[in-house]
Amino acid sequence: MKNRVTPNNNEVRLRDDEFIVSKTDTRGIITYVNRIFMQISGYNEKELLGVQHNLIRHPDMPRGAFKLMWDTLNAGEEFFAYVKNLCKDGGYYWVLANVTPDINADGKVVGFYSVRRKPTDDAIRAVTPLYRDMLEIEQREGAKSGPQRSIEYLQEFCERNNTRYEELIWSLDNP
Ligand SMILES: Cc1cc2nc3c(=O)[nH]c(=O)nc-3n(C[C@H](O)[C@H](O)[C@H](O)COP(=O)(O)O)c2cc1C
Repeated sequence: MKNRVTPNNNEVRLRDDEFIVSKTDTRGIITYVNRIFMQISGYNEKELLGVQHNLIRHPDMPRGAFKLMWDTLNAGEEFFAYVKNLCKDGGYYWVLANVTPDINADGKVVGFYSVRRKPTDDAIRAVTPLYRDMLEIEQREGAKSGPQRSIEYLQEFCERNNTRYEELIWSLDNP
């Protein structure tokens, strides 16, 4: 069951050489975490394994970001995103996440991997207002259509800036 954690403004910043790794089953239930994951999130292995990955979902993250992730993964593609995550003590940390399908010898998707690293400050500055707008849309539109509407907003933002989602992610990583 998801813990009730009250968010606060304490930021944990990843070092350049720190990578957060986790694996899940096909539903997003955690099956593996590395040591850095535990150090940064504040949870131990026992608290993480067997638990849905939304344990560390931060309320500032729009649902559309995760819907886009699942839509992309279910289409058999890898996914990149800037993600604000929630620590056990209510603090937060930003990552640039890559999520890929874990495919077995028969070509069947048996789960997912995620590797995350430190994002650039420019990227965090750029996505913070975007995610805020997406959240506002979701609150206005409600649970049913909100996430899809906020994805459309993100796509419109990309179109206005003459870019694609993946290009936006990379341009913010290499300012
Ligand atoms: C491999 C993998 C890694 C994930 N990593 C995160 C993560 O770091 N933070 C997060 O909030 N959700 C992560 N998710 C997505 C969650 O499973 C979930 O969809 C998301 O937190 C939204 O939660 P909700 O469905 O309760 O709104 C990950 C999913 C997978 C498959």
